[in-house]
Parts: sequence; C-alpha cells; structure tokens
Amino acid sequence: MDYETPQFYRVMQYAARADRDVVDMVSGSPDWDPPAGVRAGLREYADGDAGEFQYAPSRGVRPLREHIAARHGVSEDRIVVTNGAGEANHLAMTGGLEGFDGEEILLVDPVYPYYAGRANFLEAETTFVPVDAEGRLDPQAVRAAAGSETAVIVVNSPNNPTGAVYDADAMAALAAVAEDTDALLVSDEVYDRFDYSGRVASALDCGSPNVVATNAFSKSMAITGFRVGYAVFPPTDGPTGRLIERATTRHMLTNVSGSRPAQYAVQRAIETTDSSYYEGARDRLRARIETFCGALDAVGAVYTRPDGGFYVLVRFPEFPGTFENAYRLIDEAGVAGMPGAAFGSARADSLRFSLTTPRVETAAERLVDYFG
Ligand SMILES: Cc1ncc(COP(=O)(O)O)c(C=O)c1O
Repeated sequence: MDYETPQFYRVMQYAARADRDVVDMVSGSPDWDPPAGVRAGLREYADGDAGEFQYAPSRGVRPLREHIAARHGVSEDRIVVTNGAGEANHLAMTGGLEGFDGEEILLVDPVYPYYAGRANFLEAETTFVPVDAEGRLDPQAVRAAAGSETAVIVVNSPNNPTGAVYDADAMAALAAVAEDTDALLVSDEVYDRFDYSGRVASALDCGSPNVVATNAFSKSMAITGFRVGYAVFPPTDGPTGRLIERATTRHMLTNVSGSRPAQYAVQRAIETTDSSYYEGARDRLRARIETFCGALDAVGAVYTRPDGGFYVLVRFPEFPGTFENAYRLIDEAGVAGMPGAAFGSARADSLRFSLTTPRVETAAERLVDYFG
C-alpha cells in the first residue's frame, strides 16, 4: 500500500466526476453546524485591535491552553496547541522516534493511513498489529509485537476506521506495554466526544510518563477547516520531560504559531458551549448508525456496529473492498465509500463509510437496492 499519497482525494475526485448523483461517504468532515460560539468568536475577533492580528504565543493562546488543561486535569505547561490533531500526531511521533531507542513505529491494522504515511515519511520501520474481528486491540498482541527496536506505539480510540473504543483497562495495559518496552504511546483521541459506549478513556488517566495524548476541535466542534488541535506531553519534571521542549521547537520552526483567530473562536466556543451540543451530535450520529446498520443487516453484510466515532467498516458478500469495487459502487449504486485496502491488509475486504452526510437514508436505500 502506498501510504505516502493520500488516497481519500482519489476516491472523492472519482465520485465528483461520476455521471450520476452520488452520496459522498468518503470524507470525515462533519456536515453539521459548529457551536454558535465559534461564529460569535470569529465576529468578535474581527473587531479586535491590530495587535491581536499578530503572532500568537507559539504554544497557543493562554486561555485556550487553560481550558484544555482543565478538561484533561493536567498542568498547562504540558500542552502545545497545534494545527489540528495531524500536527499533534506529527510532533508526538517524531518526538518518540528521537527520544526513545529504536527505529520502529508500531501501528494497528487497519490503520488511519496518515500514521503509516508519516512513519514512511520519517523513514521509520513499521510493524502492524491486527485487531480482532470486532475491531478490538489486544494489548497482549501489542506487547508480543513490541521489542527493543520499538520507539513509538500509536493507537486511536474511538477508532477510525473500526469504530472500536478502548476502555480504561485497555489504555492502562497499552501504557504499561510502552513503559516496559521503553517506547512512547501516542494516543490519538480526536473522536473522544463521539462515544456511544460510555467506556471511552483517555490514555492521560494512566499517569504514565510514556504517554502523549493528541486531540483537536476539528471533529468535536465540526471545524476541520480551522486547524486547531493539541498534544498533551508528559510532566516536564519527569523522566520524559524534555519531549515537550523538542516538540515546541519543532512546532515553532515550522509554523511560528498556530492561527490566532481560529484559536480565539475555539476558546470562545468552549466558554459558551454546554454538553448539549455534544449530546446533540451524538444523537444525530446514533440515528444515522441505526439507519445505516439496518440496511447492512437487510443485505447480510458483515460489520461491527461502531461504539464510537462516525465510520462503519463493512464487508458485503462477494464484494471485496478494492479500489475497483469502490468505483463500481459509485457508478452502479451512487454511494461512495473508502476501500478497506487503503487502511492496510486486515480489512482489505471491507469498505469504510463515513456517516457525516445528511443523506445516510438515501445511501442506505441505494445499498439495499444494489445488494439486496
Ligand atoms: C484518527 C484521526 N486522527 C487525526 C485526524 C486529523 O485530525 P485534524 O483534522 O484535527 O488534523 C483524523 C481525520 O480524519 C483522524 O481520523
């Protein structure tokens, strides 16, 4: 698999060129509104002093970092505000490769392709640990795969693409593997507001010096275009305290700082948004999961109902998840999904559908017509 060339656009462009109406279930961009505070924050910002239009502090504007620190119960000096979870993952993975012995990054299969692309880009070795049939990651399998060469272990919960949620025990076990093998656990928690199981846990709760948690407002506030994310590094007075210094330097040399208006809008949105916004998004997605999975049941597809996030990974009878079949589904059924092959080999027979479209019902009907 060529992970260095992102494949999402390839499928989206094919769908856009199709000679018929297509329901786009490829992209992971939310189709719902951000919290009202985002728009209000942007408006307020536009009327600010010229001084506020200049560089932000490199690690992020103070009130935003304070909010993030409070949410995770950590001190503010552990946080770098980044350009999305993508940059946070980049800082964490490069920091792990530099700061720990070994050249290997351990990933899960199926994998969010940008982790694998980044590992290749950084010229790291990669080892993939397959998940079980339900998408669960067995920490013992991670332990068995990790060795003296392992510098970084990357996990993601709620998971893209499987929809699996790792609970507190799983997270603690993964952090223990990282400690025992002298590696860094990078825990991408960008979908943590989309938990339907009640079991989601942050790796930060393990209190391990071998954990960096990454996150963003991209999905939780439906603002993927704003590019506001963050990484929470280990305590600065502990054995891995230098990780944040190196990450801050790398972030500064690359970006100087993140976008100040975007950080301001997010800060204001945090101050004015209550839990009902996140509950509303979860309710919307639960209803879509219901509709979509109902259609999958009707055609005898094999899938695991997502416990979190907004993707469903599906195996249709005699219709493997190749790029060729993804294109066929666009042309013949009018539904665009992502080939499982883009996420590694463990689910190469599946297709991944994103529920971030108001047309889930139409897609469900089309799939029933096509496979029924
Ligand atoms: C698992 C995972 N991590 C990170 C990202 C990227 O997040 P951001 O847009 O905040 O960079 C995505 C986007 O789809 C994702 O699925």
